[in-house]
Amino acid sequence: MKLKNQVSWVTGAAGGIGKCISEKLAAQGSHLILSDINASALNELLVHLSGFDVDILVLPLDVADPQTVSEGGQKIRERFGRVDNLINNAGISPKGPKGPIPFKDITFEDWNRVIAVNLNGPFLCSQVALEMMVAHGHGSLVNICSQAARTHSPVTSAHYAASKSGLLGLSRKLAGEYGPYGIRVNVVVPGRIDTPMTQSVNEELSRQAALRTPLRRIGQPNEVADAVLYLVSNEASYVNGAILDVNGGSLMI
Ligand SMILES: NC(=O)c1ccc[n+]([C@@H]2O[C@H](COP(=O)([O-])OP(=O)(O)OC[C@H]3O[C@@H](n4cnc5c(N)ncnc54)[C@H](O)[C@@H]3O)[C@@H](O)[C@H]2O)c1
Repeated sequence: MKLKNQVSWVTGAAGGIGKCISEKLAAQGSHLILSDINASALNELLVHLSGFDVDILVLPLDVADPQTVSEGGQKIRERFGRVDNLINNAGISPKGPKGPIPFKDITFEDWNRVIAVNLNGPFLCSQVALEMMVAHGHGSLVNICSQAARTHSPVTSAHYAASKSGLLGLSRKLAGEYGPYGIRVNVVVPGRIDTPMTQSVNEELSRQAALRTPLRRIGQPNEVADAVLYLVSNEASYVNGAILDVNGGSLMI
């Protein structure tokens, strides 16, 4: 097992990609901290993962709320005393009936909420985790970004693109600042993946995305989770500040 007795914190753990990441980490022997705003879905996930011989702390929280993230950090310190891996995966991508919301229709309130969840969330959770990682002299952060941060994305809205672009910048900064402490920070950039986030909108968008993709299909959440598993594992011990595209070839830069 690649991650025996490590402690991994997954945000957005109850979602399509988060669930697969959590399962793969548990299969490699990692203890888990599972966070999501959807507490009942987290409890279902806990039942789903009960066959793995790992400790699991269920930590329902809104990643955008500084108070609950800070309290969550306290619970992690009490239960495990450390975090080896943090996967900043929680995210929202608001859409309109036809897909992306036109820029002129994005309210300031919606803008702030997307930035709060997709960018402030990783900021808050990373601060909590990095303090413990520095104390232990090692650690790995993986930020789940988006193709919307790498190029124009016809399927997402401006606030989402801005938040994920910010996350890319934050990741690079942290990779530079925390490398000297033995902490690696990397980014996974999924293309279109078959999860509740994409299933909740017009199916035609996924069909078109598949046609634009050299592999002629959209991705599955386990294919993103495998990239995360690689980045937190020792096989990636010299990989820091990397951007790993998982997109079937739909973007090649
Ligand atoms: N599905 C895709 O095509 C795709 C593509 C690129 C990037 N991503 C990114 O991958 C990540 C996971 O997305 P997914 O496709 O699994 O979506 P999903 O909607 O299935 O899962 C997202 C999870 O995040 C949780 N969440 C939302 N707001 C939260 C908050 N404030 N605090 C804590 N948890 C919160 C949700 O409850 C949900 O369980 C997101 O960051 C998303 O932006 C997804």
